[in-house]
Amino acid sequence: MKAHFFSLLLASFLKSRTDAAWCYNSQMSCTSNCTGPEFWSNMSNSECNGQSQSPINIVTRKTELDKDLTPIHLTEYQGSYLWNIRNNGKSVQVNIPHGPLISGGKLKTFYRAVQFHLHWGKDGSPGSEHTVDGEQYPMELHIVHIKKQYTTLSEAQKDPTGLAVLGFFYEMSVNNNRNYDPITSALKNIIEAGANATIPNMTLTSIIPPQETLTKYFRYQGSLTTPNCAESVVWTVFESTIPISMSQLSEFSKLKFQDGNPLAYNYRSVQPLNSRKVYRSGCDVVLASITLLAATVLVSITLSQSG
Ligand SMILES: *[C@@H]1O[C@H](CO)[C@@H](O)[C@H](O)[C@H]1NC(C)=O
Ligand SMILES: *[C@@H]1O[C@H](CO)[C@@H](O)[C@H](O)[C@H]1NC(C)=O
Ligand SMILES: *[C@@H]1O[C@H](CO)[C@@H](O)[C@H](O)[C@H]1NC(C)=O
Ligand SMILES: *[C@@H]1O[C@H](CO)[C@@H](O)[C@H](O)[C@H]1NC(C)=O
Ligand SMILES: [Zn+2]
Repeated sequence: MKAHFFSLLLASFLKSRTDAAWCYNSQMSCTSNCTGPEFWSNMSNSECNGQSQSPINIVTRKTELDKDLTPIHLTEYQGSYLWNIRNNGKSVQVNIPHGPLISGGKLKTFYRAVQFHLHWGKDGSPGSEHTVDGEQYPMELHIVHIKKQYTTLSEAQKDPTGLAVLGFFYEMSVNNNRNYDPITSALKNIIEAGANATIPNMTLTSIIPPQETLTKYFRYQGSLTTPNCAESVVWTVFESTIPISMSQLSEFSKLKFQDGNPLAYNYRSVQPLNSRKVYRSGCDVVLASITLLAATVLVSITLSQSG
């Protein structure tokens, strides 16, 4: 009888624990009842305890050169449109309506961009999700793509290679990155969780490093870095970084989580690599431009054939 009572009590404790909304370590306190990273794996439909989780620490010495990792081809990344930027209570996110495409670099098909968001520390302190040889950068950009044949993220999550996420690190610069001014000004209007603002005339190319520097990247198979941590992501993490100033980074730290506390340290800690391998692209400059040209020709042929 007593044992039964306690198991009921335990069950209800576990239930409240796992039904509560997920949160980052930085949101946890003795009064909060959210589900921190340690318990993400106890949430329903969670894969957070899997063997192929993200982010990871990339040990460059142990990466394997793969010459087939040709430059990622970006289609319509330069298209300009009105962005709606939203504080979703965990990050800032821009949904991408017209779906620019990526291909090449051993991606088996075209992937369509659906949204981008960021992970950061606080006022320039470390906050990236991936680390390289143990170094954590102040911020990381994730441009999330799904296989062209899918229409929703949840559909794509069921496919082990349903998503392709491009990850970019930021590095502190003395001067403001002018391309980021529209974003950092918009942040002032989305301090509260749930708020959104519009930014006219923005392009994806303006927020990433110049295309000619995107030949060097790391590739591995991993997961979403937030619950349900679905293991369905082909990760491409670029070596080339995006400059951003301290004052611009500070604007991100002024945002608020949905619990009203400062939105800071919204990253998951690195996960075990287990039996996975991390590959690195590596072709010399001449090879790179030839492949890029070939890829461009191929894409234009494919596009002209498809209408
Ligand atoms: C968790 O806390 C929120 C407010 O912070 C409250 O609304 C909710 O009822 C709490 N849930 C549980 C299971 O205690
Ligand atoms: C959470 O799940 C792990 C296994 O994934 C298990 O060992 C642990 O007991 C669970 N903890 C709670 C509080 O449910
Ligand atoms: C943006 O916020 C306004 C309220 O300020 C709301 O009416 C609108 O639906 C929101 N738009 C999006 C795309 O979230
Ligand atoms: C948007 O960009 C186009 C072309 O770059 C330019 O002609 C136009 O004036 C811009 N509009 C705004 C509102 O900035
Ligand atoms: Zn992310």
